[in-house]
Amino acid sequence: MIYLRCYYKYYYITLLSIFLVLCLNVYLVFFFSKDESPIGTPVVIKYNATYFASQNILNALSKLDKEYDVPVPTIQSNVLRELDILLSNLKLKINGDIDLFAATVKVMNQNGLMPLYGTPYLGSTINLLKTSKIIKTYNAFKGTQLKLILMFENKQEVLFKPKWYLESEVIEGSVYAGKDRYNGEIIAFYISLILGFPRVPIVVKRILDSTELHETANIGLKKTMYINSTTKETCVYGKCYYCKREDPVCTKSERLEGAAIFHLPSNIKLKQHLHPWRRTYIENKRARWEDDNDYCDSIKSNYNSERILDFIDVSIFDFIIGNGDRHRYEVVEQFNNTILLIDNGKSFGNPYKDHIDILAPLYQCCIIRLKTWERLKSIKGGTFTNILQSMLDVHETLSLLTLPHYRALERRLKIIYATVVMCQKKSDRSILR
Ligand SMILES: *[C@@H]1O[C@H](CO)[C@@H](O)[C@H](O)[C@H]1NC(C)=O
Ligand SMILES: *[C@@H]1O[C@H](CO)[C@@H](O)[C@H](O)[C@H]1NC(C)=O
Ligand SMILES: *[C@@H]1O[C@H](CO)[C@@H](O)[C@H](O)[C@H]1NC(C)=O
Repeated sequence: MIYLRCYYKYYYITLLSIFLVLCLNVYLVFFFSKDESPIGTPVVIKYNATYFASQNILNALSKLDKEYDVPVPTIQSNVLRELDILLSNLKLKINGDIDLFAATVKVMNQNGLMPLYGTPYLGSTINLLKTSKIIKTYNAFKGTQLKLILMFENKQEVLFKPKWYLESEVIEGSVYAGKDRYNGEIIAFYISLILGFPRVPIVVKRILDSTELHETANIGLKKTMYINSTTKETCVYGKCYYCKREDPVCTKSERLEGAAIFHLPSNIKLKQHLHPWRRTYIENKRARWEDDNDYCDSIKSNYNSERILDFIDVSIFDFIIGNGDRHRYEVVEQFNNTILLIDNGKSFGNPYKDHIDILAPLYQCCIIRLKTWERLKSIKGGTFTNILQSMLDVHETLSLLTLPHYRALERRLKIIYATVVMCQKKSDRSILR
């Protein structure tokens, strides 16, 4: 009883001090706000640049020429014919004794991870990634979220990101909120090919059943696996920065769905760099690019012009998939430092929100590669999502994305057109490079 009374005393003292601190705060706020600048003087806006840029882009969007709603006929477009070849390569099944994974690696070079029309092996490789027998499953330790590595019979490895959300779930909050979306990884692979950036390793949907999980998990992974006594489902929480026993991913009807990502062989060395347009990841602390429309000029001396154009391509890709989490970028040194688009899971979070600030490299530098612009224009008027759907239809399912997400893709494409048109109007010379 005595102890209890003692605690009560501390309780009141704490409350009283909190109250006093609050009073002081209120007083100070009033004290300092007395001296505000006189009303009526013009304010020079040197902050919140992303907000005003977004307003200008939306304004340009409302005036966008109707020609951007009209699809280009396939026979008039090299890009569309190339995409037709890609589609047939996705469908092609090669029979015979070919090491498909070796063939996949062989086509990688400084232009990307495969030719833009794919390779004749693409369809068979995707099929193999979806069906190869798994002999070992273990934890991939890198990163903040749970990732598994699946090893196939021929020792090829794939990175497995489990499904945490239903496809229809809308992720609220900041642009980087939530866990990885497995479907985002898969769709990002196909979109990278459509946009002409073959820089995403092949990704497929893969389903593990619980027997497979139990039989192939190594000791380390098994330690983080259990069977939920109520549901009888297998759960795994793994080891990673955010991994917690209370927050496992569990099978549904004894099946664990996820994205299986082709693992680049160890002789292809990736080098990570900080992205100059990264966010601060601190609430209420803004990065310099968010408040400075001249940011592009200020970093130009640190990067060659090709790299700046890469950042612009990447921003277009990320804006379309809704990924605002590219704080780092990877390059392959032996391929002349070509840039890759790895880790696209923070995409397709909210189909009702367009994070126009992801486009900052585009609207702050106001230049774009001619070939990117030509490609974007050739998929206008609904062609973009039509092609995406025909590609998904070959090995995956259209329902990997909900209708609002398909609409968001078309809407974002038009926002990009509006941004480029706006830049062109502002500039007295061509913005195409
Ligand atoms: C930017 O300005 C707009 C309008 O003044 C405001 O609504 C928004 O909250 C501001 N954003 C930030 C991050 O300050
Ligand atoms: C088992 O699953 C049920 C239903 O999803 C959940 O409420 C419960 O917390 C789980 N138990 C454990 C030990 O994870
Ligand atoms: C390598 O990259 C640099 C800078 O982007 C470029 O100027 C050069 O032409 C590239 N070399 C080859 C062989 O592609």
